[in-house]
Amino acid sequence: MKRVDDFRLRLGNKEYVPIMIGGMGVDISTSELALEAARLGGIGHISDAMVEDVSDRKFDTSYVKDKTKTYKFNINNMDKAVVQFDLARLADATRRHVGATMEAKRGDGLIFVNCMEKLTMNSPRETLRTRLSAALDAGIDGITMSAGLHLGSFALIADHPRFRDAKLGIIVSSVRALQIFLRKVTKLDRLPDYIIVEGPLAGGHLGFGMDWAEYDLHTIMDEIHAYMRAEQLDIPLIAAGGVFTGSDATSFLEKGAGGVQVATRFTITNECGLPEKVKQEYVRATEDDIIVNGISPTGYPMRMLKSTPAIGAGIRPGCESYGYLLDATGNCSYINAYNREVLANPDSKTVVVMDKTCLCTHMRNFNCWTCGHYTYRLKDTTHKLSDGSYQMLSAEHVFQDYQFSVDNQIALPARQDIVLA
Ligand SMILES: Cc1cc2nc3c(=O)[nH]c(=O)nc-3n(C[C@H](O)[C@H](O)[C@H](O)COP(=O)(O)O)c2cc1C
Repeated sequence: MKRVDDFRLRLGNKEYVPIMIGGMGVDISTSELALEAARLGGIGHISDAMVEDVSDRKFDTSYVKDKTKTYKFNINNMDKAVVQFDLARLADATRRHVGATMEAKRGDGLIFVNCMEKLTMNSPRETLRTRLSAALDAGIDGITMSAGLHLGSFALIADHPRFRDAKLGIIVSSVRALQIFLRKVTKLDRLPDYIIVEGPLAGGHLGFGMDWAEYDLHTIMDEIHAYMRAEQLDIPLIAAGGVFTGSDATSFLEKGAGGVQVATRFTITNECGLPEKVKQEYVRATEDDIIVNGISPTGYPMRMLKSTPAIGAGIRPGCESYGYLLDATGNCSYINAYNREVLANPDSKTVVVMDKTCLCTHMRNFNCWTCGHYTYRLKDTTHKLSDGSYQMLSAEHVFQDYQFSVDNQIALPARQDIVLA
């Protein structure tokens, strides 16, 4: 019987353990988590979502405070077009986050950064160019282009000296999205080095509509494999979304996938950036607690716990401090939803906004509990301790369980507390 460790992911002329830990913003996939994946010979992701805030917390910089001060005059204005990112500061924050991570890297694996196109930041092209270039400047091993079609992203960095040496990958959820993307990049004579195929059971934003349940990762992988064969393209496909055991992973590797990308099982590791209280919510969740809704202003459906504090919270839009989802015209659908409720309830001090959420502020405060479909199975991966809480795991334990387990088994860690008879 085969296991994940019988396979290797080939990128360029090197081979890796075929396990990627997916990017989870905002700083849920921390540097510490990504570094463990690299140390163990696989691939870890950090995320550049809200990187200025991440930098402030890690390095005691003051990007957010300074931006808030600059745009304080606009806080009560519905029009946010004036709120712009200072590109030099954005580059600086990115270089700090990426640079410190790369400096700490040990082992034979790689560290990639997850860059979401939907973080349009009131100037989609220029801010994305800045983010991608700064990550390359700071020595990142690779960039995964996510949450968007990224039709112009490669071109933004085509003149960067590392454009051909860094690994570049894309996340797609259908053969059609891949075709459109490949058509665009052939002009640059630069194909992606890997393609992550993300099915409907993933965490975070989904590349599907609200009919996500009608799709299945194995079928999409088969379609993309067939397309790649027909086009004689030899680019590793990485299966993502709902790969919960080593055997799930092996089932994709045996059919020709280059690797798997996993995330949910790492949300209850010590290295994951979620606060302990939120990690406990994840393990306690039952299947009924996990929903997919449309509250993200990006327009993509998002999976989360039903008890997520972000649902209904009618807070004032935080664009003067954050503003990562402002589109090219300085708009965000949460601003409209919030203003609609304020106008409808002129005498209320607080409003409830059900259809959209201020994703920047809530992700920053870990109040949007996005999660993968199989979060309800996390309790099968650890122990319930005598005080009623669940034991957290080490990233090494989870990584190696994926790598070595067979027969759909999940290895439990050594118990941390003493069970009283
Ligand atoms: C808490 C959480 C946050 C996530 N955030 C992001 C993100 O910011 N960008 C992204 O491309 N994918 C994101 N994802 C998706 C993962 O990177 C990954 O592809 C997917 O969840 C893998 O499926 P699994 O969680 O079932 O293992 C997130 C997933 C989780 C669980």
